[in-house]
Amino acid sequence: MSSPSDSDRYPEPTESIRLRPTLDDLPAYVAGRPAVDDGQRRFKASSNESPFPPVAAVREAVVATLEGSHRYPDAAALELRAELGARHGVDPSQIALSTGSVAVTGDLVRAVVGEGDEVIYPWRSFEAYPILVGSHGGVSVQVPLTDELEYDLEAMAAAITERTRLIILCTPNNPTGASLSTTQIEEFLGRVPAEVVVAIDEAYREFHDPATVAGTAGIFRRHGNVVLLRTFSKLQGLAGLRIGYAVAHPRLARALSQVTVPFGASMPAQAAALASLGVDVREELARRAEWIRTERSRVLAALAAQGWTMPSAHGNFVYFPVRERSSEFVAFADERGLVLRGYGTDGVRATIAEQEANDLLIEIAGQWRERG
Ligand SMILES: Cc1ncc(COP(=O)(O)O)c(C=O)c1O
Repeated sequence: MSSPSDSDRYPEPTESIRLRPTLDDLPAYVAGRPAVDDGQRRFKASSNESPFPPVAAVREAVVATLEGSHRYPDAAALELRAELGARHGVDPSQIALSTGSVAVTGDLVRAVVGEGDEVIYPWRSFEAYPILVGSHGGVSVQVPLTDELEYDLEAMAAAITERTRLIILCTPNNPTGASLSTTQIEEFLGRVPAEVVVAIDEAYREFHDPATVAGTAGIFRRHGNVVLLRTFSKLQGLAGLRIGYAVAHPRLARALSQVTVPFGASMPAQAAALASLGVDVREELARRAEWIRTERSRVLAALAAQGWTMPSAHGNFVYFPVRERSSEFVAFADERGLVLRGYGTDGVRATIAEQEANDLLIEIAGQWRERG
């Protein structure tokens, strides 16, 4: 089908619709820059994606759904929720799915946060939080990380007020990499009123050292106000298919199903997620996670040898706290073939990507230090 030429287009009519004033104050979500946008090929280390394409079983499962794609997907996603319920030891009705865990987080805000209610989360953290909170009428209470870019749970507990409805703990934290232990989360929960929901966003859980990762399954079982957020976008490599979920207690799970967009989890996404849970695929994914952890250690050791002091890194990324030189550092890497993600005047995040990209990151970081 041809697109209309300029002369076919109608002139824009004048309009005076009323938008919600709160939108004026919302930051725009800045996605990681693509690898090619000016003809030059670069490695993309700006969106915490998996460097590995989907495994064959997942691709085949997706292709098999195309035949039936004139039909709506199973809105209840019975098979996938049954499988996820079994894996998390909960009833399938306690699994709330949508188009990525970012959408599930939006559902959570809509389910528990009214106009003017407060949502506490650390800052910096995932950039979508202020947008999801603000666009649904909530008020963000951003609690700064410590100077070492670790969680300040004391300050987060002190920030709780009568208006607090939701607290988000992102562990490992995007973009800084800090993580929380079972004890830290338990102690914190001891200071949170039972009616306030605490969401533990575990998008990067699989990249944490399994020996020390927080026991969130137990935490979930012990606390009626805890909800876990998980995604298939990172280790499972399904970022482009969009599927994520919450593990919630029954009343909250029901509320999430009330507010979510119907048919959010598409047929190919459900099939891909289900295939990702197969035994063979899980073994391959575990090997991939281990590879990422090994690469992360290699990168961090090389950076330390160059004199960098990096914050702790438990996700599939490392964070350079280069502050006001952040955009300069991003441009420096960009010119040398590596796309990174800058955060204002705070720092720069680099995804642990293909080995060549990680080698290039080390080289660029070394050149940056030499240049001073
Ligand atoms: C902390 C965190 N939570 C959630 C997500 C969203 O993942 P999804 O692709 O499932 O929406 C991301 C994606 O970057 C993330 O960094």
